[in-house]
Amino acid sequence: MFVLTEKENIIAQFTQDVIAGLSMTPKRLPSKYFYDAKGDGLFRDIMACKDYYVTRCEMEIFTEQTEKIARAISTGRGEFDLIELGPGDCSKSKHLLQALLNNGVRFNYVPIDISYDVIQGIESNLPGDLPGIQISSRHGDYHQMLKALSSGSDSRKVILNLGANVGNMPSEQCYKFIGDLRNSLSKGDIVLMGFDLVKDPKIIRAAYDDDEGITREFNLNLLRRMSNELEADLDISKFEHYCSYDPVTGACKSYLVAVGDTSIDIGAERFKLSRYESIWTEISQKYTLAQIEDIALANAFQPINLFTDSREWFADVLWEAK
Ligand SMILES: C[S@@+](CC[C@H](N)C(=O)[O-])C[C@H]1O[C@@H](n2cnc3c(N)ncnc32)[C@H](O)[C@@H]1O
Repeated sequence: MFVLTEKENIIAQFTQDVIAGLSMTPKRLPSKYFYDAKGDGLFRDIMACKDYYVTRCEMEIFTEQTEKIARAISTGRGEFDLIELGPGDCSKSKHLLQALLNNGVRFNYVPIDISYDVIQGIESNLPGDLPGIQISSRHGDYHQMLKALSSGSDSRKVILNLGANVGNMPSEQCYKFIGDLRNSLSKGDIVLMGFDLVKDPKIIRAAYDDDEGITREFNLNLLRRMSNELEADLDISKFEHYCSYDPVTGACKSYLVAVGDTSIDIGAERFKLSRYESIWTEISQKYTLAQIEDIALANAFQPINLFTDSREWFADVLWEAK
């Protein structure tokens, strides 16, 4: 029997998702494909850039309230699996992991990321940075891995989902994801989840359309990946980055807009784009604290703690599965 390798499976899924997205009206592409080694690097540059407040706000929470968070997730819990969804470079979670190790808490760290480079980076750097840490990393899409979580081990689970990872889903999808997450957990398991809060619309828009053009490069990297990995025939110079924020819905959306008539060929498929036609590539949904509480309660989670930065621009919420 012919069996695909892991790499071939990833390419087959990538191809299928791109063809499905470009066949839609209006066209769209999934943001999870921003991340290869170049995309990971660009995201690190975004995190450091002056307009992107999101990382600095959550970093403030993780550096100034580390002990409080460490105690809230570990007290009275015994040994647990600390499962981080989409950890990236772990720059924030590392503070928490260090505090847990300092406090002698027994846990198994399970980072799950779709980027192979992220997983490789964690496996090669984290043991040196945090001596004594026990790591069982997983490479793949965390949406598809939620089911495996429930059957994986009998240990208590603490889920970390930081940054604005859930913000990268439209609200309905976020509700569904959190419902699926709840179904993969047992009563008493907990979740620490980051949400970007509504704020001055001008500040939000600037964060996704920075002056240095890093977000632009990050958005265009999706086309670069399609060209390199799927051998898609396309002209990157025919696309520009555009971002809009709607203060009514709280949705900040990024698009690749065709600046002239063009086409994208993948294998035998040809997708034509006319001038100014857009491909929706990313959403960064902003929430109020009341909306976040509704999401928890609607999905059988009990909110038990809330950590915000000093400006109340970002929140990490702690929920317990009811
Ligand atoms: C925006 S970065 C955030 C990283 C980190 N959580 C933080 O707060 O700095 C998103 C990370 O999630 C990963 N990712 C995105 N979509 C994913 C998916 N569906 N499954 C697994 N990992 C995913 C990316 O590879 C990347 O490392």
